[in-house]
Amino acid sequence: MKILVFGGSGFIGSNFINYCFKNDNYIILNVDSLTYASSNNSILKNDNYNFIKGDICNQYLINKIIIDFKPDFIINFAAESHVDRSIDNPIKFIETNVLGVANLLNESLNYYRTLELSQKNKFKFLHISTDEVYGSLSFNENKFSETTPYNPSSPYSASKASSDHLVRAWNKTYNLPVLITNCSNNYGPFQFPEKLIPLMIIKCFHEQKLPIYGDGKNIRDWIYVEDHCSAILKVLKKGKVGETYNIGSNCEKSNLDIVNEICLIMDKFKPRKNGTKYKELVTFVKDRPGHDLRYAIDSSKIKEHVNWESSISFEEGIVETVQWYIDNVEWWSEKINSDYNLSRLGVDK
Ligand code: DAU
Repeated sequence: MKILVFGGSGFIGSNFINYCFKNDNYIILNVDSLTYASSNNSILKNDNYNFIKGDICNQYLINKIIIDFKPDFIINFAAESHVDRSIDNPIKFIETNVLGVANLLNESLNYYRTLELSQKNKFKFLHISTDEVYGSLSFNENKFSETTPYNPSSPYSASKASSDHLVRAWNKTYNLPVLITNCSNNYGPFQFPEKLIPLMIIKCFHEQKLPIYGDGKNIRDWIYVEDHCSAILKVLKKGKVGETYNIGSNCEKSNLDIVNEICLIMDKFKPRKNGTKYKELVTFVKDRPGHDLRYAIDSSKIKEHVNWESSISFEEGIVETVQWYIDNVEWWSEKINSDYNLSRLGVDK
């Protein structure tokens, strides 16, 4: 089975490629533009793996890659994904997440039209999206289901919502066989340390203040990245064309609870030099503009359609993750080793 992956050098994409190779004998071509958050050091060596550096906005290149590789499946992970960066530089998000996806869809359709019927029947285009397209929930509202209306808050989530609409339009208008997954907050190995969990771990590592936006009561629904990858593979194999699947692991936690949990694990694994607790580094800072209060995913549809359920508890996953960042200082030091990123993250060299 040949899978063409776009954005496979980012956090979720690289975990997905590693997961595929661990579980089956796929032939994978990864196309990634290797922006600041991605890395080819995250993908384990495999003879069935190939890489091309390229931008999803490049029409000529994408056309050539798809026609030459002749994939059975195309999966798109490529996206600008950090909300704070989208507030600082929204246009980049529109370029990659909207125009880039439109380009992928168009070139996938051009390829799909050249296929024989038996190949057409197999082909699927899977778009990886986010629960942020649904907007924000109050503390006691029902979880997001696949029929919750889109109501994005940030330039990032609005650009992802746009891309989801484009994917559905290519299905309805041109019959391109598509699938969409909308997942909750991921954590685990190889995540760029600008997102909450890895940022807090490396700030603990450097014994720096742990900045919590607002009052820390905002809630996210956390899923270990390997669980997300197993869901993606199941949807790719068994999902019904044209459908959307929410992916989550029933794990709602406030940001303050997450940071406290990381502090406790760090106290155990890497006690502070001065004998105090990491929790003392917690600092409440100015809130993020348009900060969504709560995300929560109802994943009953994916359970019913493809029999997927998460299998890694938060307690297991967070210990694995902290341990991974402690064991892989080289990986994340290299990632933050540029002036721009250092100044954003406030991390000392
Ligand atoms: O829901 C899925 C989404 O989760 C993905 O689509 C996004 O790509 C991903 O970035 C993530 O969005 P969030 O905004 O929820 O993730 P982030 O790690 O930036 O923040 C998680 C929560 O922690 C959020 O309420 C903001 C807060 N936060 C974040 C940072 C970086 C802090 O309090 N302090 C921080 O320094």
